[in-house]
Amino acid sequence: MKKIKVALKDRSYDISIESGLLNKIPKILKVFNRGQKWVLITQEKLMSLYGEGLVQNLALINFDISTIILPDGESIKSIKEFERTCLKMLSIGCDRYSSIITLGGGAVGDLSGFVASTYMRGIEYFQIPTTFLAMIDSSIGGKTAVNANEGKNIIGTIYQPKSVFIDPNFLKSLDKKEVNSGFGEMIKYGAIWDKDLFEKISTWLDNPSSFPFEKAIIDAVKIKSDIVSKDEKEKGLRTILNFGHTIGHAIESYYGYERIKHGEAVALGMKCAGFISNRKRLLSLNAKNKLFNTLEKLNLPNTSDINKKEIVKKIKSDKKSKKGKVKFVLLSDIGKTKIVSSVPQNFIEDSLEILK
Ligand code: GLY
Repeated sequence: MKKIKVALKDRSYDISIESGLLNKIPKILKVFNRGQKWVLITQEKLMSLYGEGLVQNLALINFDISTIILPDGESIKSIKEFERTCLKMLSIGCDRYSSIITLGGGAVGDLSGFVASTYMRGIEYFQIPTTFLAMIDSSIGGKTAVNANEGKNIIGTIYQPKSVFIDPNFLKSLDKKEVNSGFGEMIKYGAIWDKDLFEKISTWLDNPSSFPFEKAIIDAVKIKSDIVSKDEKEKGLRTILNFGHTIGHAIESYYGYERIKHGEAVALGMKCAGFISNRKRLLSLNAKNKLFNTLEKLNLPNTSDINKKEIVKKIKSDKKSKKGKVKFVLLSDIGKTKIVSSVPQNFIEDSLEILK
């Protein structure tokens, strides 16, 4: 089993990665069982595929465990679902010593983490991500949130889990769109941090059916853990993880979270950011083309009907903006970032033109 540490002093934790890890989780969690009430938060399909077995195995070794089943989709990241989950926890007897286990993709993890960070002023939680994207990104680093009508992740906290368990076997039951979404974030890690990894990912994507998921997950998790360990609260370095996200979030909210997956929107956002990087003379044409060629290996959704003015409006209300000024993470080479706070509106509009 590969263990990677997020080093945050007394809030440090391990990310364990291994195919088949699900079956070992009860044994690993045993040391955290003090006789408290446990709750598994998940969704119906995941409950029948994996949750039922997990709960049975935990109950066999004396865990007092209940389950909360959330509805499907990104729409669970809402204040309404947050309140419903907290009240459900109260009704099944959870107190301030209780522990949450989250089993699901990014939306389940983000909502459950937000519940954990606020329920009775904060209780411990453990993440079991089941999508590629959640494994390499959202389950690590403690970002928790719900959405508001006005924008994604507007209400949230940074609250670290006690441990993260990654079992790449979950990926066998994922649909293609979901895996493609993870590829988007995977390319991001190479683009912002590691040129060699970028080249490897690009080669692996020539034959996606032989993509070495476990190896790629380990590479990505190492990068994310390293960055979060250096800058947990996103005061500086962690900002680079937002490469492709400024325009990506706007595209995601424009098309609706059900029509486009997060990583797909980020991939489109990275194309725009690559275009802007070149237009600002930071990134060579050759490097920009490399980025584009790799992103084009993904089967990205058709965006020919995109409305540039609407996207620009959404970008301006992004939560990453400071006094109305939007920060952009750009590239100066593959593997090297540069954060800029002034990108002319016509550069943004021209970058959106390439998505048509
Ligand atoms: N997904 C970006 C971050 O965790 O900072």
